[in-house]
Amino acid sequence: MAKDLIFVTGGSSGIGQGMIEARTDRDARVFNLSRRSGKESTHIEADLASITGWDIAEKLFMEEISKFSGERILFIHSAGTLSPIGFAGEQDSDRYRSNILLNSAAPQILGDSFLRALANFPGLGVVLFIGSGASHTAYAGWSGYCGGKAAADQWVRSVGIELTARGDKSKVLSIAPGIVETDMQSEIRRTEAKDFPEVDMFISLHNQGELKTAAEVSDKIWTVLDANRFKNGETLDLRDTL
Ligand SMILES: NC(=O)c1ccc[n+]([C@@H]2O[C@H](COP(=O)([O-])OP(=O)(O)OC[C@H]3O[C@@H](n4cnc5c(N)ncnc54)[C@H](OP(=O)(O)O)[C@@H]3O)[C@@H](O)[C@H]2O)c1
Repeated sequence: MAKDLIFVTGGSSGIGQGMIEARTDRDARVFNLSRRSGKESTHIEADLASITGWDIAEKLFMEEISKFSGERILFIHSAGTLSPIGFAGEQDSDRYRSNILLNSAAPQILGDSFLRALANFPGLGVVLFIGSGASHTAYAGWSGYCGGKAAADQWVRSVGIELTARGDKSKVLSIAPGIVETDMQSEIRRTEAKDFPEVDMFISLHNQGELKTAAEVSDKIWTVLDANRFKNGETLDLRDTL
């Protein structure tokens, strides 16, 4: 019988896919919300840079949580994008808007929907955002991404205080995974220096074999989650954590 119910965004690729594959409850019921389908999960097609996508997620949370009788429900928000990489004011405005909707708005809106749907669940609820060092280090060419990661981390800190204040057993956290070999890193390395001046540093790190795999970071993240080894509202960097 399933102990965990797991909702993952961005489970079609990279770290989201790694989190699904590395899940410690092998009987868990797993949903992946993304545009493309992924492995080992029920695919719910949703563009999370849109209100329609947020509505799909909210409906899914409500329906599945109300009928779940296991111990723990997790919302792992991994969907994110760097596109369009380049300086603000020079990008296609539709693509820039999608970046902001996905990176800044989606985590806060979906986090709120998830907590609302958890209201009568007697077990443990956990919101995990896959964060980034870009929440506190600014990079030219990544303005929407940096702004979004900072916004998501501040949401985690604020909601952590709220949950603690009302004695709620649900927990929220974000974990920055370090530099991980995924499609996002391939996109960075393909970018011209005029759009991303620090591109050479990322190419060097890759050439020196410094990148972790999604499987490695996912195993570590599950260790943190399963040990409940974090405070409510914490924004962790995996490189300092284990
Ligand atoms: N890789 C790194 O070095 C690194 C470092 C720090 C933080 N992170 C964070 O890790 C998370 C996962 O990134 P990744 O490195 O695993 O990159 P990735 O392999 O490119 O995965 C990105 C995921 O986001 C989903 N996504 C993108 N746009 C979406 C949209 N509009 N609606 C729904 N889903 C969407 C994609 O699914 P579909 O295309 O199927 O929709 C895909 O599954 C991101 O939040 C990223 O900021 C990564």
